[in-house]
Amino acid sequence: MKITIIGAGNVGGALAQQWAKKGHDIIVGARNPESDKVKKLKEQLPNLSITDVPGGVRTGEVILVATPPQFAVELTREWGAVAGKVIIDATNAIRLKPTPYATAFHAFEDLTKGAVVKCFNTTGFENMANPEYNLPGSADASICIDMFMAGDSAEGKEVAKQLAIDAGFEDCYDFGGSDKVELLEQFALSWINLAIFQGMGRQFAFKVLHR
Ligand SMILES: NC(=O)c1ccc[n+]([C@@H]2O[C@H](COP(=O)([O-])OP(=O)(O)OC[C@H]3O[C@@H](n4cnc5c(N)ncnc54)[C@H](OP(=O)(O)O)[C@@H]3O)[C@@H](O)[C@H]2O)c1
Repeated sequence: MKITIIGAGNVGGALAQQWAKKGHDIIVGARNPESDKVKKLKEQLPNLSITDVPGGVRTGEVILVATPPQFAVELTREWGAVAGKVIIDATNAIRLKPTPYATAFHAFEDLTKGAVVKCFNTTGFENMANPEYNLPGSADASICIDMFMAGDSAEGKEVAKQLAIDAGFEDCYDFGGSDKVELLEQFALSWINLAIFQGMGRQFAFKVLHR
């Protein structure tokens, strides 16, 4: 797939590298193609295409948004027509909001005609770069952690789930419709709370177990 990354920082860079390994074409739509973050990603991925935000949105079949959330409304003004494209919102509007919307997802859903899905927001970027963990007590056996998504678009969720698996997650669980997007951001805040506020550090993840 042609995947455009808007926001080639920690999250965008980690997912770009995972998806490139699976053979996806990665395009960065950058506000500043000369930024240090874009240059670093280009060193890691020599086949990376770099363009501006409108050019990236025109080219990509899937648009991953991994910018600070408060730019969501401004971004949609640059986008032009996005009908027929999947927009994956990986942002978390925890401190700054894309006013008047509660989340970037809700701005994209209201202001674009894309198939909008919330995904890749619930864990740290280190877990996106490497979703594999050793099983407790075993140096040899490993498991892959899970990803989570929400939104009303069945098409968006189908694509996000496949891209989560392509990025190395074992599964991508459906939290429900667009009314569950804020819950998914609170779930992200639960990870942030343990990692940062409770001092657990960033090398842990949530995993769904069944019996
Ligand atoms: N860090 C995590 O572990 C994590 C995990 C899950 C979700 N998230 C969420 O993911 C988002 C990105 O986090 P991050 O840690 O990856 O941030 P980051 O490393 O600071 O990268 C942000 C990227 O967004 C770009 N950007 C900023 N404003 C822009 C605009 N107006 N138009 C286009 N591009 C713009 C920046 O471009 P320049 O290169 O020009 O600066 C930069 O490449 C945030 O919403 C965060 O809440 C983060």
